[in-house]
Amino acid sequence: MTIEKVNDAFRRNFGTGGNLYASPGRVNLIGEHTDYNLGFVLPGAIRQAIYARIKPNGGTLCRIYSVDYDENVEFDVAASELPVQQWARYVYGVVHEVRKLGKSVAGFDCAFGGDVPLGAGLSSSAAFESVIGYGLNDLFGLGLSRLQLAKAGQMTEHNYIGVRCGIMDQFASLFGEKDRLIRLDCRSLEYRLEPFRPEGYRVLLLDTQVKHSLASSQYNVRREQCEAGVTIIRRHVPEVESLRDVTPEMLETYRGKMEDAVYRRCHYIVGENGRLLKACEALERGDYETFGRQMFGSHEGLSREYEVSCAELDFLAGEAAKHSGVLGARMMGGGFGGCTINLVREAEYENLVGELSEKYAARFGKAPRVIDVVIGDGARRVE
Ligand code: GLA
Repeated sequence: MTIEKVNDAFRRNFGTGGNLYASPGRVNLIGEHTDYNLGFVLPGAIRQAIYARIKPNGGTLCRIYSVDYDENVEFDVAASELPVQQWARYVYGVVHEVRKLGKSVAGFDCAFGGDVPLGAGLSSSAAFESVIGYGLNDLFGLGLSRLQLAKAGQMTEHNYIGVRCGIMDQFASLFGEKDRLIRLDCRSLEYRLEPFRPEGYRVLLLDTQVKHSLASSQYNVRREQCEAGVTIIRRHVPEVESLRDVTPEMLETYRGKMEDAVYRRCHYIVGENGRLLKACEALERGDYETFGRQMFGSHEGLSREYEVSCAELDFLAGEAAKHSGVLGARMMGGGFGGCTINLVREAEYENLVGELSEKYAARFGKAPRVIDVVIGDGARRVE
């Protein structure tokens, strides 16, 4: 459906030819806001993706059509002015970041669209950056690695969108594999693909359909607060470079020297790295009960200490905790809206969805959007 729309749009706007590429959104089972603190994350790519048909046009213009916005934008590959349209800045950013790596990108035509819900915390923007980077790399034979493409996507967010995000989303979109979670160490960038086909269990996303405008400004504030904590500890323990190097004991020792908010942010991050490691051990044993408990702990910390949740997310996570069919539930992604991710007993899935939807609707006036999760492959050429 989406693929046909993208292909049709390309044909209408630019004629025949081109290659079709896809790069997916992601879920993250546990390890939130830990990526830019050089800790651990456990994401997986999902089936929903952004698709782009791209073709070199022999000139120097990037001509792009967005199916979802029904809008055309064009700019020169060497243009120094950002496009007005927010969506086009992602393409502009990726082109510029790739050029910074000394690679020459020539003009191209591109139509894109996708089925990753926007603003739901599923990283549609990382999927977009990744599909553009992956496609240009393939079409122009640039020879960039997936890691270089992930970093180019991340730098697009930093330099052209204004969000100082970590590497998780782009990494998951580029490195994801079917039925596997990525246990990524964001300090060394080493990763392991952990088999994830929990028999008898399912992963359920409940989208609050709340999109808080706070998300990007508060995101950068959290990052600064974590850096402030590191700066204070480093004065006393010079080898500390990030919160990854901070132990719970160290944090308590220097607690008195920090603002309370800074302490609580740091306390959450240090705890979250611990929870992730416990969750990964549990996963290896097939112990989903323990895994789920770490997810609940993660939500608690995100809500009370990191303060990136909202009433709707707290409600869904809280109600999930009362249901016998749920092993774990937490808000997912940057926060202030978007989805909760739930690890659910297969046999109670339908009942749970019905019950939570009803309760949520009674409280907030509309049902959450239900998104069934299948862990799929990362960036690829489609045909
Ligand atoms: C957003 C960012 C990621 C990560 C998450 C929170 O999705 O893009 O880098 O920090 O928030 O875990």
